[in-house]
Amino acid sequence: MYNKEQTQHLQEQTLSFLKEQKSEIGIPEVKPLRDVLRFHEYRYYVLNDPLIADAEYDQLYKELVKLEEGHPGIITADSPTQRVSRGLIKAFPKVQHLVPMLSLDNSYDATDLIDFDRRAKELSGLAEIVYCVEPKFDGAGISLLYENDMLVRGATRGDGVVGDDITTNIRQIRSVPLSANFSAFGIQQIEIRGEVLMNKDHFKAYNDLLEEEGAERLANPRNAAAGSLRIKDPREVGRRNLEAFLYHISYVSFLPGVDAPKVLETHSSALKMLWELGFRSPEKEKKVCKNIAEVVAYCEHFERQRDALPYEIDGMVIKVNELAVQDTLGMTTHHPRWAMAFKFKARQGTSRLISVEFQVGRTGAVTPVAKIEPVQVGGVTVGSISLHNEDYIKEKDLRLGDRILIERSGDVIPQVVKSFPELRRGEESVIQFPVQCPACGFPLEKPEGEAVWRCNDSNHCPAQIVEKIIHFNSKDAMDIRGLGEANVRKFYSLKFLKDIPGIYRLPFEQIRALEGFGEKSIVNLQQAIEASKKQPLHRLIYGLGIRYIGETTAKVLARHVDYLPDYTRFSMEQLQELDDVGPKVAESIYQFFHNEKNLSLLQELEGLGLNLRNEKEKLNDTGTLTSQTFLFTGSLKKLKRSEAEAMVEKSGGSVLSGVSSKLNYLIVGEDAGSKLEKAKKISTIQIIDEDQFLAMIGQLKNK
Ligand code: IVH
Repeated sequence: MYNKEQTQHLQEQTLSFLKEQKSEIGIPEVKPLRDVLRFHEYRYYVLNDPLIADAEYDQLYKELVKLEEGHPGIITADSPTQRVSRGLIKAFPKVQHLVPMLSLDNSYDATDLIDFDRRAKELSGLAEIVYCVEPKFDGAGISLLYENDMLVRGATRGDGVVGDDITTNIRQIRSVPLSANFSAFGIQQIEIRGEVLMNKDHFKAYNDLLEEEGAERLANPRNAAAGSLRIKDPREVGRRNLEAFLYHISYVSFLPGVDAPKVLETHSSALKMLWELGFRSPEKEKKVCKNIAEVVAYCEHFERQRDALPYEIDGMVIKVNELAVQDTLGMTTHHPRWAMAFKFKARQGTSRLISVEFQVGRTGAVTPVAKIEPVQVGGVTVGSISLHNEDYIKEKDLRLGDRILIERSGDVIPQVVKSFPELRRGEESVIQFPVQCPACGFPLEKPEGEAVWRCNDSNHCPAQIVEKIIHFNSKDAMDIRGLGEANVRKFYSLKFLKDIPGIYRLPFEQIRALEGFGEKSIVNLQQAIEASKKQPLHRLIYGLGIRYIGETTAKVLARHVDYLPDYTRFSMEQLQELDDVGPKVAESIYQFFHNEKNLSLLQELEGLGLNLRNEKEKLNDTGTLTSQTFLFTGSLKKLKRSEAEAMVEKSGGSVLSGVSSKLNYLIVGEDAGSKLEKAKKISTIQIIDEDQFLAMIGQLKNK
């Protein structure tokens, strides 16, 4: 898309815009500014390799917004600011695809593929056929229409002939260009097919958020992507971090007097054209195979890599590469004869639902957990599986004794897909939801509009108290190693520990007398507890387990005050001004900081020596590595990699996983390879050796 010269030019432009006084960017510069923003969107969303920091992008984006707000006449439909639209979508009008969206025929092993190849050869009369093989993305199918270089329509698959017009939502997906230079290829109108996905990391984060909000987790990223495309609030779609792969041109017409260009003679070069126009096509993932044996080998190779990919694929798609041969083969009413899906082994299995246990979580939510006959799914044995809430059980029509279909997609938690009512023998029984808390007997309540039954006796319910303590200690919260779930339960049952402050008053003399607690483990535990007092504020906030406050919101909250109890002075309106805080979250924070019990808990924790202050202030005046980023490459001589990384984090810096413009320091050990090469190309990265790193840390320590 951008060659080296263009890349360097745009990067120089970027730096000069970043340096420029805000008021100096004027109307004549609106086009270069848009070009710069589009370039960085492409680096970030298509290549996954940004050249500037997020905050720098935001700064330039805001400049453009300001400029356009001052001069609405200069706004163009493909301006980077025009992805976001305000207001809700009332309905998705139906639209007819220019060419129907067909399905694919499925194959499951090498024999099926060899059969497919034989049939294609017979039908085409060719002795050998060249194929292009690419991943079968497991998301939601979409169809995009560009006219005169502009994106004019985005639609769902629908029934294949007619889909829903979801243009506004498609515009939120930043890897989909709002305009592209098709006219350079003589193209006037083009319909492109692809798949919208949510990658595994975003899916997990999204599911965690749903759970935090008391909503149902989604079974797989495919459902998350499909559901997201039909949301009526485009800004919410924007927040879902969707991605799109485009892999098929279904229709193309040319400008008057122009003939079809050579790039449209093969599928592989069409993918290349899309890639060069800024689309995320499977250009890097595809392989052109000379014969079916190569196809089989590539499919098998890719299946082995499946778990390492950031997104879900459920197989490979094999396409005849020459478009003229595709035309000869034609299609059935269901699928093209020139393409075939090769489906990977399913990550589904069947089992029997034996019993249901009801677990009480730290917020009092009662979660039904099914015990099932153990079954292997995608290499993991599954013996119990969350049923989430009462509605979920009703919706899936689950009964004790039912045969059920379960699915584990990627590294995602297993889910029940469905039950098989037709296999019931009459012995199955309805799952009874308890009316009282299974831990303390308090009557359960379910507020209007919520799916979850709750025990509201949070101060006495032993299950909630124990879960709160476990959460407080957990890895992402206060990270008190040695005080994991088993020990919390043990100490609680022995009455050594009855609440969170109790962690800091554990009776070590009595613990020493217990079996299995050697001197070493006691000392380690004491040290871990002591160290937790110095944890940064956001970990404490997260550890308090305030409803709806996940790690991200905890970080936002930590950033905005110097001292945690300052939140008692925030109004609901002020809370909602914080990033990521909507009315529901604000209400929860407000309640927390207006509850006497919580305030005295904070006071008690501070009295016990815990840090309630924003660490940023403190770190700045001791001059540590705050907001500096580091990456290690090659083998270090004096330090273990993990030690070095811990040193960085302890000093307030962070360790990145790869080289990008966000990196400040690359520490180079022996035999450094590609990371070093990559870092050399980014002028803002400082490349230092182990001794220089140690000196840096040492210097800082002595300050
Ligand atoms: S080609 C006319 N290529 O799989 C053929 N489809 O099960 C057009 N899919 O409806 C489809 N990855 O939504 C093609 N690389 C890929 C694909 C792919 C995923 C989806 C697509 C299709 C479905 C069929």
